[in-house]
Amino acid sequence: MNSIGSQVHTDQSPQAEAAPHRLYIETVGCQMNVLDSEMVVAALRQRGYDLARSVEQADTILFNTCSVREHAEEKVYANLAKLKKTKMAHPEKIIGVMGCMAQKDQRLVFQRAPYVDLVVGPGQLHRIPDLLDSIRHGAGKQMAVSLGRRDGSQEAIRRSHETFDPLRDPTMRPTPYQAYLRIQIGCDKFCTYCVVPMTRGPEQGRPPREILEEARELARQGCKEITFLGQTVNSYRYREGDRVTRLADLLEMVHEVDGIERLKFVTSYPKDMTRRLLETVRDLPKCSTYLHVPAQSGSDAVLRRMKRGYTVADYYQMMDLIRDVLPEAAVSSDFIVGFCGETEDDFQQTVELVKRCRFKNSFIFKYSVRPGTKAAELMPDDVPDEVKTRRNNELLELQNAISLEENLKFLGRRVEVLVEGPSKMSIKRGETGPVRQMTGRTKCDRIVVWEGNERQAGQLLPILIHDASSHTLFGAVETVETQSVPEVISLRH
Ligand code: SAH
Ligand code: SF4
Ligand code: F3S
Repeated sequence: MNSIGSQVHTDQSPQAEAAPHRLYIETVGCQMNVLDSEMVVAALRQRGYDLARSVEQADTILFNTCSVREHAEEKVYANLAKLKKTKMAHPEKIIGVMGCMAQKDQRLVFQRAPYVDLVVGPGQLHRIPDLLDSIRHGAGKQMAVSLGRRDGSQEAIRRSHETFDPLRDPTMRPTPYQAYLRIQIGCDKFCTYCVVPMTRGPEQGRPPREILEEARELARQGCKEITFLGQTVNSYRYREGDRVTRLADLLEMVHEVDGIERLKFVTSYPKDMTRRLLETVRDLPKCSTYLHVPAQSGSDAVLRRMKRGYTVADYYQMMDLIRDVLPEAAVSSDFIVGFCGETEDDFQQTVELVKRCRFKNSFIFKYSVRPGTKAAELMPDDVPDEVKTRRNNELLELQNAISLEENLKFLGRRVEVLVEGPSKMSIKRGETGPVRQMTGRTKCDRIVVWEGNERQAGQLLPILIHDASSHTLFGAVETVETQSVPEVISLRH
């Protein structure tokens, strides 16, 4: 039994019993991980944990990790290495690794970082509170991971990847007005470069009833904007007897929840974009006119090797459908440059696609080999790193120029902004004292900054745009005088 465990058991004073544990949690990776961390904190709060601001103040340290690129993993191992001294000085502190890297590396985490006490995959997060208790009571190192994709029956594998959505904790969210809501876990697409189907397991939709109940709970907590999460969120389907629920149905259901003002969903899979979904977004006023639909590449040869399941022509057809149904929608994308065998000509076709699609923004990544994937097994990583870097920079520069051109179209327009809170560069000196720089997003997910006050947080405000950069629109809250500006503005944004 370790010292903390014996202290708790031998000291009978009520204060010592009630002393809360202090949790420090660090999160990297996608929105799924941000949501998982919120859930774990909520569960541990129920067990009497408080949040600590630093490793020094904490007795429990958790890293929520990502495996999507090697760089993300190396950073976690580097951060873990920094804890070695802390653990030697304070062996009672518990160090845990959760998330996708925990699932992928499993016991390897203990080998690479021997002072880690706990390894928990994303499908086993519900076990964290009990496992922490066991470690505290002397059980030694603990690991809880899900089955691999070939390590059992379909049913057993599915069951070992459990979605973890207990009580929501508004204090853990970046703002109390916005929340993620998981509608689907896992992924069955098996793109050849990607580790996610292994770390997150089979695609499984959550029951509509649970999603609706959670949306109502979020509204009760004062949340105004819900973002549905799924790796291929528009592939969502849930069957109960003869009834099949799709993403469009979920949007219709949650649209009815009082207090919710905005609805978004990420990430969409190009092949599964349907006219019905787009028409639902068009017809429901609370839906954001924003779609994140990663193209990954503009070359058919590369898309085939990636096993993305669509051609460039299919992608263009999908873009035409979006423009037809939702002419003002903002679309964003992800790209991988330097994937196995990508030639200069392949890359130029990606440049062409970016020029044609005019995305609001794109996330661009250099290909990173992921052990366990088809690409790692079968295709050599043959594009040199400096070529990857050059292609990355070239594509980013092009995308930034397009983003700026698209943002400049907003000059003089009024947009409706959901106010998130003070911006990072928050306080400016005004003539009558300090003024706050506030930030929020338009209906099409563009970031807006203006001078305002913190009481605006959580409101939907009309903002008149007077300047733009490639990533931000700058404006002012409309006053009575500015409201006489002509109605160029009634476009849906
Ligand atoms: N489910 C989403 C995104 C998952 S990961 C989708 O299918 O679009 C987020 C992004 O990381 C991907 O869109 C892809 O662009 C990038 N990515 C995934 N695996 C990668 C790898 N091995 N190397 C570099 N980038 C990768
Ligand atoms: Fe990965 Fe492809 Fe699934 Fe996205 S769709 S999570 S890129 S396998
Ligand atoms: Fe990373 Fe896992 Fe998300 S690998 S991108 S944290 S699903």
